[in-house]
Amino acid sequence: MSGRMENRVAIVTGGGSGIGGETAVRFAQEGAAVLIADLDPDRSTNIIEKIRSFGGRAEYSKLDVRVPDDANKMVSKAIECFGSLDTLVNNVGGGKGDDLINELDEETWNFNFDFALKPTYYCCRAAMPKLLESAEVRPGASIVNLSSVNGMTGMGLPAYAAAKAGVEMFTKNIAIQYGKKGVRSNIVAPYTTRTDFWKPTFDADPDLAPRLADINPMRRIGNPIDLANAILFLASDEASFINGALLPVDGGFTAGTDIFSRSGGGDEDGAAFWRSQAESGNFPKS
Ligand SMILES: NC(=O)c1ccc[n+]([C@@H]2O[C@H](COP(=O)([O-])OP(=O)(O)OC[C@H]3O[C@@H](n4cnc5c(N)ncnc54)[C@H](O)[C@@H]3O)[C@@H](O)[C@H]2O)c1
Repeated sequence: MSGRMENRVAIVTGGGSGIGGETAVRFAQEGAAVLIADLDPDRSTNIIEKIRSFGGRAEYSKLDVRVPDDANKMVSKAIECFGSLDTLVNNVGGGKGDDLINELDEETWNFNFDFALKPTYYCCRAAMPKLLESAEVRPGASIVNLSSVNGMTGMGLPAYAAAKAGVEMFTKNIAIQYGKKGVRSNIVAPYTTRTDFWKPTFDADPDLAPRLADINPMRRIGNPIDLANAILFLASDEASFINGALLPVDGGFTAGTDIFSRSGGGDEDGAAFWRSQAESGNFPKS
């Protein structure tokens, strides 16, 4: 199989479903051998079967991202199965706790850091020696870490937001430390993306996904393939001079706000607001 990830070996944490599952499939379609490192063996088996159905290579490693030694076992398994390691995608994460901070308990704070930040450290630390070995013999070693729009702009979930902002700064420092040794590190920050994480919430509140779409400049939420294609790009040689970058995959959500179009007359492009300003005599006549 030939493609943008030909002869590469990749680990995708949380590769059993959602963004990670789609990433594992896209990597395999482009020629990578993929280790799915996930807590859930059944979900992972589905993705592995999907990959094998088109002739791709995939194996499973049981991973609980909260357990440091599982990260070491995951890297050993990749070497045992495929002989080397070129790409690490730290995808597992998630957050909870939209409390006001004077009511934010330490358990919630710790949950977010244990699940959304510390695993990135455990997995990068475990994988780096093998990524460096790969970089010595061929170009293309890299890490892609998953953040969130919550890590970029204040919009709720304060402990999760702080943890994801930590992922971003941690990744930028890895980029600085290891770029000269041939290992690139980058970050992808998704907007709300339709995965199993959201399923119970969307099922309980069918208006939520449309509301989240409505506040996005592109009037939709993300799909896992949107993220998988961005992760693939950053892991591929097409991004060979991109290091320490934070790529929002968010429909423009963190680019700014279209609040004027909403508050100024309501039409989609904001024209009514600016027409009303012109008609009110606020601009000098030319
Ligand atoms: N989905 C979104 O709306 C969204 C938005 C912003 C950021 N993100 C980020 O994107 C990443 C992926 O999100 P998603 O929605 O695809 O994830 P998800 O919750 O759907 O889960 C992905 C996979 O992680 C596995 N997993 C869960 N706990 C694990 C653990 N302790 N150890 C190992 N594997 C475990 C699950 O089995 C599943 O296969 C996360 O870092 C998340 O913070 C997601």
